[in-house]
Amino acid sequence: MSRQDCERADRDDPLAGFRSRFSLPEGVIYLDGNSLGALPVATAERIAKTVSDEWGQALIRAWNSHDWVNQPGRVGDKLARLLGAAAGEIIVADSTSLNLFKLLSALLTRPLNADRNVILSERGNFPTDLYIAQGLNHLLGGRFELKLVEGDPSDALDRSIAVAIITQVDYRSGRLLDMAALNARAREVGASIIWDLSHSGGAVPVQLGEDGAEYAVGCGYKYLNGGPGAPAFLYVRSDRQASTRQPLTGWFGHAAPFDFATDYRPAAGIDQMLVGTPSVLASTALECGVDLMLQADMSVLRAKSVALTERFIQLVGSRCAGHGFELASPREYSQRGSQVSFRHEHAWPIMQALIERGVIGDFRKPDYVRFGFAPLYVRHVDVWDAVESLKNIMDSGAWREARFQKLNAVT
Ligand SMILES: Cc1ncc(COP(=O)(O)O)c(C=O)c1O
Repeated sequence: MSRQDCERADRDDPLAGFRSRFSLPEGVIYLDGNSLGALPVATAERIAKTVSDEWGQALIRAWNSHDWVNQPGRVGDKLARLLGAAAGEIIVADSTSLNLFKLLSALLTRPLNADRNVILSERGNFPTDLYIAQGLNHLLGGRFELKLVEGDPSDALDRSIAVAIITQVDYRSGRLLDMAALNARAREVGASIIWDLSHSGGAVPVQLGEDGAEYAVGCGYKYLNGGPGAPAFLYVRSDRQASTRQPLTGWFGHAAPFDFATDYRPAAGIDQMLVGTPSVLASTALECGVDLMLQADMSVLRAKSVALTERFIQLVGSRCAGHGFELASPREYSQRGSQVSFRHEHAWPIMQALIERGVIGDFRKPDYVRFGFAPLYVRHVDVWDAVESLKNIMDSGAWREARFQKLNAVT
C-alpha cells in the first residue's frame, strides 16, 4: 500500500465533497471526532445569525417566531431519521448522563418482581454510566445490585436483570455490539436495555426500530458534530412512552407549561423527557451537525469508515512494527465502530508528540492511544500521513522529550 493508493481512494470517495463543509485548521489531521466532532461551516454562520437576528432582534418573541419552543422535538425527529426511529420517539436535551438518569429511574421505579434486582453493565463501560447507576441505586436505598461483567454482556442477561445499560461502541476499544441480538435476548428474559449510543450516532448505521430497541441515550458532540457540550439525545419507543415516567418533573416536561398550573401533569409522548428551558444556541449547533449528517448515506459512510480503520490497522502493523503497539480494537471489522485504539506503555507521551505534529487523537488511561475516523472529513491520505508521523516519532524516539511527559487535565 502506498500514498498513491490512498490518493486514488480519495479520488473515488463518494463522500469526498463533505470535507469542504467543515472548517478544519490547516496542517491538522483530525482523528478525534469520536471525542469532539469538527465544526461544520454552516454552524458558524447559523449560530451568528441566531445570535444577531433571532436573539438580538426577535428577543423573547423568537420562542414563537423562530420556533425555538419546538426545537428539541424537531432536532429529535431529524435524529430519528438518522437512527432508524419514528418521529416523536427522540428528543434532544440535557447531557447523556442526565438522560440516562431519567430513563434508569423511570425503569427501576416501575413495579418489578422482587427477584429482578440487578442492574447489569460492563466493567469497562464509560464511567458516567456506572456512576449514574451507583448514585441512583443509593437514592433508591441500595435495592439493586450493580453487576459488572467483562466484555459482551449477552451471557449475563438473565431473569434477575431489571435493566442493562449497554454501550454499543466501547469508548476505549471501539468494540461494536450486535444490537438486534442483545435486544432479542433481553426480550426472552424480560429485561430492559438502555443503549448508550454516544459512539454510534453518525459513526455506524443504527436501526433502533428494526433492531427492537426500547430505550437509548447518546452524545451530540461526537460524530454528530454538535459542538462542545452539545445537548444529548434520548429515545423511548412509542409503545413504551406512556409507561415511562421520569422523575425530573420540570416545567418543560409538563403537559401545558404555559398554564403555570400548581400541579405537575406529564406531557404526552417524548416531551415528558424534557426538564427545563432548552439550550437554544447549543441545540442550533447540533441541528446543523445533524442536517449535514443526514445528507450522507449511512451505508456509504460505514463502508468508508471500515476502509479507513482497516487501512490504519494495516499501516500501523507494517510501518510501526516492533515499536510495541498492541491493537486494542477488534481486528474483525464487523465488530468495530469508527475508531481504532492501540495499547502502548508510553501511550501518553506518544500522543502528545503526535499532536505537536498536527495529528490529533487522544489518550485514555491506563495506556490507550485512540484514533477516531469521522468519514465525512477524514481522507485516506490522512491515514497514510498520520501513520508516517507516528512512525517518525517512534523511529526517532521524539516522544521521549521531557515536554511530552506532563499529563494535562483533559486527555
Ligand atoms: C459512552 C459514553 N457515554 C457518555 C459519555 C458522556 O456523557 P455526558 O455527555 O453526560 O458527559 C461519553 C463521553 O465520552 C461516552 O463515551
